[in-house]
Amino acid sequence: LIVVLDFGGQYNQLIARRIRDLGVYSELLPYNTPASKLRELNPKGIVFSGGPNSVYEENAPLVDPEVYELGVPILGICYGMQMMSHQLNGRVERAGKREYGKAEIEFEADCRLISGLDRRQTVWMSHSDKVVELPPGFRVDARTPSAPVAAMSHPEKRYYAVQFHPEVRHSVYGNEMIRNFLFEICGCEGNWSMTTFIEDAVREIREQVGDKKVLCALSGGVDSSVVAVLVHKAIGDQLTCMFIDHGLLRKGEAESVMETFAGKFDMKVVKIDASRRFLDKLKGVEDPEQKRKIIGNEFIYVFQEESAKFDDFEFLAQGTLYTDIIESGTATAQTIKSHHNVGGLPENMQFKLVEPLKTLFKDEVRKVGEALGLPEEIVWRQPFPGPGLAIRVLGEVTEEKLRIVRESDAILREEIANAGLHREIWQYFTALPNMKSVGVMGDARTYSYTVGIRAVTSIDGMTADWARIPWDVLERISVRIVNEVDNVNRVVYDITSKPPATIEWE
Ligand code: XMP
Repeated sequence: LIVVLDFGGQYNQLIARRIRDLGVYSELLPYNTPASKLRELNPKGIVFSGGPNSVYEENAPLVDPEVYELGVPILGICYGMQMMSHQLNGRVERAGKREYGKAEIEFEADCRLISGLDRRQTVWMSHSDKVVELPPGFRVDARTPSAPVAAMSHPEKRYYAVQFHPEVRHSVYGNEMIRNFLFEICGCEGNWSMTTFIEDAVREIREQVGDKKVLCALSGGVDSSVVAVLVHKAIGDQLTCMFIDHGLLRKGEAESVMETFAGKFDMKVVKIDASRRFLDKLKGVEDPEQKRKIIGNEFIYVFQEESAKFDDFEFLAQGTLYTDIIESGTATAQTIKSHHNVGGLPENMQFKLVEPLKTLFKDEVRKVGEALGLPEEIVWRQPFPGPGLAIRVLGEVTEEKLRIVRESDAILREEIANAGLHREIWQYFTALPNMKSVGVMGDARTYSYTVGIRAVTSIDGMTADWARIPWDVLERISVRIVNEVDNVNRVVYDITSKPPATIEWE
């Protein structure tokens, strides 16, 4: 284990990621984690992350000074280096010139962080304070024209510190320096992998659950699917999955969930068909946020009602991810859309939680899913909003409109897959604006619905650009939609990015 202490820098999750990618398990913990807790965790090394503060500000976050007594190697990055210097009696000052972006740096040849690497390197800097006096016992390992101490170390204590950010790709040998820290300095072995993860998780689930029963709400999304299969691998038929079909899924989705889990994996899956209930509740409702709330609440009612029918469950398995844990607790930004996930359950439920993915990042969950033999369409499923097609039918949701989005969306998905674009495009779907227009079909006037195509590229859904789908693929999609979906006579393509638009139309 390598512990990364979080001082609030924007790349902190990336540090933990880089370390895991090198085969060493790593966790991000709050900066004020007491030394006694760290001693219990017995890490092979500790990383102090970057952060936005200045060490000499009042209330600047500082590590428990006893951490320096643990005898564990430390790597300080940016703010982490300044703090180390400050706490160990060096001196930090505001730099006359801020340093942002690429910088050329020259290391001392014998610095262990760069063993096997070039002395001259390009690194990524982002700081406005600098170390001007070394703490006692330290040596300078590298300099840049504007930072007299760009890297420093105390080799006997195995403390290393760098002013730049080795975790970002622009630091050309950054990854290798992290590797040196892990393997040369901390003596890590690098044998953490998804297989190890699965073995450990299976053992822990068995220990936690014993011979008790577990319930899992399955949505067909990656996270709940991986949880279900993992828990099933651990405890077999002590697990029952509940799949609530709210009638707002895409074409064929409910069937494929049942086929995969009840069929291929031979799991106990109870399917609740609640589509009537949801549609009734949505009748006459036009406001998107109200639709989201109704669906979210209804989901909870259905779950409570149905789970009460099984009275012998003690545990609930959930697909909580590491990012959910890290992000809850930070101040949330303004609500653009209430993304409360349908499937999010109330906290006052009587269950104990089994959350085997809570130390993983999304792409690691995908790797686990692949290793567990989940089909590609689940592992690589594009994000699908909890409220489902209800927010892709603009305005009031009716069965007729649901049919149109469902059918047109199926055609779009098929053609995108035929064109081999399904991995490149982050999300693609059709939406039904609440409008009709005039057309002509077989010499007759029509007055029918318009279907909108939305397809975007993105990394995290926070920002997005519209996908440049080739004209001929768009043409095939358009021709098929107007020919095969009743009551549609026009197809438009959404060419706005996010911001200013959002990915979904509601
Ligand atoms: P927007 O439309 O805000 O969407 O650009 C960003 C990402 O979030 C998904 N999304 C939702 N997911 N519940 C969800 O679970 C919701 O209410 C919801 N609304 C949007 C959207 O599909 C995209 O991936």
